Amino acid sequence: EVRLRVREALGAREPAGEVKVQGWVRSVRSQKEVLFLHINDGSSLENLQVVADPSLENRDLTFGSAVEVQGKLVKSPHRMQNMELKAETIRVVGPCDTLAFPLKTKERHPLEYVRQFPHLRCRNNTLGSLLRIRSEATAAIHSFFQDNGYVHIHTPIITSNDCEGAGELFQIETSNEAREPAEKTHFFDVPAFLTVSGQLHLEVMAGAFTHVFTFGPTFRAENSQSRRHLAEFYMVEAELSFTESLEDIMQDRLEKTLKNKFVIISYNEAVEILKQASQTFTFKPEWGCDLQTEHEKYLVKHCGEVPVFVINYPYDLKPFYMRDNEDGPQHTVAAVDLLVPGIGELCGGSLREERLPFLRSRLQRLGLTDAYQWYLDLRKFGSVPHGGFGMGFERYLQYILGVENIKDVIPFPRFSHSCLL
Ligand code: 4AD
Ligand code: MG
Repeated sequence: EVRLRVREALGAREPAGEVKVQGWVRSVRSQKEVLFLHINDGSSLENLQVVADPSLENRDLTFGSAVEVQGKLVKSPHRMQNMELKAETIRVVGPCDTLAFPLKTKERHPLEYVRQFPHLRCRNNTLGSLLRIRSEATAAIHSFFQDNGYVHIHTPIITSNDCEGAGELFQIETSNEAREPAEKTHFFDVPAFLTVSGQLHLEVMAGAFTHVFTFGPTFRAENSQSRRHLAEFYMVEAELSFTESLEDIMQDRLEKTLKNKFVIISYNEAVEILKQASQTFTFKPEWGCDLQTEHEKYLVKHCGEVPVFVINYPYDLKPFYMRDNEDGPQHTVAAVDLLVPGIGELCGGSLREERLPFLRSRLQRLGLTDAYQWYLDLRKFGSVPHGGFGMGFERYLQYILGVENIKDVIPFPRFSHSCLL
């Protein structure tokens, strides 16, 4: 007796004798002469049709129940599918309380509805497909970087740094009641946080491996209920040594992936474009202000609904690590954000300040010299021009799949006032 996944059963070339397939019932159709079941174990988008004698019908055999079907795999008479399973025995492994089960048979539940059931929604077809694509995209991203000579780095989740300096850190405390209160917060002797970005650790590694990437969870206590923010999200980050221009970061690597047309504009140009349409915004565009979602949307539309790189942002707007452009009264750094249709900001990146005097004086002004001694060290021992970017993985999935709400492209969304399961 051979145990087959639904995917294997559907893809079989030849009929097979004694096989066993397990899965959950997706539909039951009982006729006078024959009982039809559709089952799936999540290995395929398509259900496997089971054909059985009506005598095998059983009151526990309902939508949502878990079953084990044993029988023969035969060619299906239907043109739509290759194989079907002629059942000899059907065993209900786990019945389903259909009255209480919130995902009803055949109904196309809206995503907002299934979101209420984080422990069950993966059984919904749409959610199931999104999560399967997420899994494939994860593998594709790893292959892309590995195939292009990048070394994968597991950057730490617990860190004593605030890379972005935006005050959105989750601080770590122990829950061990037996400890003294002072010890509680000082398990590491220093305040420790969940990481907001693996960038600083990647910069360390780029100083040895030249091209590195990381792809892991990052955390931000953003008090935002928007459809594109999470408190826990995954970020794809790459860091490249011996990189002297933003074009290297934008094109050398990204051009390969972005087959379609894209546009590059400076922050100054962006502000000029926005000012022409000032009356359309709630938040009036001014040089020195961060681009709001409404501004990002407008810029993408203005450029013809294509991806837009905005480069060279105001010095005072951006984190300490960005490279000083040393340019006049409208002082900028070599930063780049990628805005895409329907989403807004998808990637953020920059050249890093590799010059010791510049970095030291900026850190001094921020009172961060002690904390970042190791980071300054990197500029003393073979410092090279370098840069990189981070892409929000969930926003990327939203973009390629056209998914309205970020909560639907991550298995277990965490956002303010919500940490279910
Ligand atoms: O622009 P950000 O803050 O850039 C950095 O963290 C850099 N240190 C990355 C680097 O250069 N290595 O974040 C990068 C991307 C954003 O463009 C956005 O797509 C995503 O991360 N992101 C979020 N996604 C979901 N929920 C949030 N709260 C997010 N915050 C940022
Ligand atoms: Mg950003």
